[in-house]
Amino acid sequence: MARGTEVLIIGGGIIGVACARALIRAGIRRVVLIERGELGRQASRAAAGMLAPQAEADGPGPFLDLCLAARARYRTLGAELRDATGEDIEYCPWGLLYLVDPAEQEAARGRAAWQRSAGLRVEEVSGQALRGLEPALSPDIQGALFFPDEAHVRPCAVLRALAADARQQGAQLLENVEVVDFILAEDRLRGVRAGGETILADVVVACTGPWTARLLDLLGHRLPVEPVRGQIVRGRFARPPLTHLVWGPLGYFVPRLNGEVLIGATMELAGFDATPTLNGVASLCEAARSMAPSFMAAPFDKAWAGLRPRLPDGLPAIGRFPDIPNLYVATGHYRNGILLGPLTGELVAELVLEKRPPVSLDPFSPGRFFR
Ligand code: FAD
Ligand code: GLY
Repeated sequence: MARGTEVLIIGGGIIGVACARALIRAGIRRVVLIERGELGRQASRAAAGMLAPQAEADGPGPFLDLCLAARARYRTLGAELRDATGEDIEYCPWGLLYLVDPAEQEAARGRAAWQRSAGLRVEEVSGQALRGLEPALSPDIQGALFFPDEAHVRPCAVLRALAADARQQGAQLLENVEVVDFILAEDRLRGVRAGGETILADVVVACTGPWTARLLDLLGHRLPVEPVRGQIVRGRFARPPLTHLVWGPLGYFVPRLNGEVLIGATMELAGFDATPTLNGVASLCEAARSMAPSFMAAPFDKAWAGLRPRLPDGLPAIGRFPDIPNLYVATGHYRNGILLGPLTGELVAELVLEKRPPVSLDPFSPGRFFR
């Protein structure tokens, strides 16, 4: 049996689900998403949920600009999704304290300088002022930068809300169906084979995270995405023990409204193994001890891991695939897929509708790996 759609999205992580929502909201009538497991069970569920370009970017440029636009998009997204679906994504615009090691002061001054030149808000915080802001932090920490415009969300709530809204608008999101092959005719895709069916599509968007290399191998093209494992440990507190995101040289804290604190995250090349390890948990506990020794008495709640999709230059690939005009790719969001997801969906919708996206996507063209 063959069925057909206008746009077919492969992969139901935050990127695929955000694309489905944006495409259906942009007026495309038939949008189908195919996920081989359950929606958002991979990296998108493992993520910490920081919206933190000022901590994550290493300098000004297109990547910073994309991340800042994505952070700005979240300012209204929470209310939009709550109104449309009733889901609260726990958008917390609490700011981020970027702890500065004495050996890193020069680098921190440089970071503050380029960010101010880019028009961003940065404050310098002494050790004493830091403990006034966050009494739980170690007295050994001598200072920090404060980025008041950074924020965080609960990733699984973002995913649920995007998916609910996409479905309400008429998109079909299918779970437990795997795309196993493409149907290609004269350099255009006609569709895919999935779940014993042929699904015909005018346009296909591949959003398969670190599995994108394997998927595109089916077409004989190699997009060099690799998985970078990240582990997280969660502690539980009676009340939130922090009122900011905290980013240190060895790890970070993400406080949730209900008193949970995430301690993240490792960066490991471990193939497609998304299992947390005792080594990972131990290293995260050491990071927590160095930043807030009193946290070590908190009840251990849970540990987990996910696979970040990384391209060799660390930038995402968002755009039309070379040589196959009706295939688009949105992957490689690496450490920032929660931040970039909703905006990526909207940019993909603009591309598919052949409009000019409000942000230049040239630096993120998938074609940069095929020149
Ligand atoms: P995924 O979530 O991996 O989704 C890809 C989907 O494709 C999967 O569900 C998979 O089953 C499906 N799939 C694959 N092949 C097929 C096929 N053939 N057929 C059908 N379906 C298929 N980002 C931030 O912005 N802020 C953070 O604080 C943050 N913290 C992180 C912490 C950790 C520990 C980790 C691991 C990541 C973190 N990230 C963060 C990064 C973020 O999680 C990722 O960039 C993002 O989730 C990637 O989303 P994705 O949709 O591309 O991939
Ligand atoms: N952005 C945080 C992480 O990837 O761990």
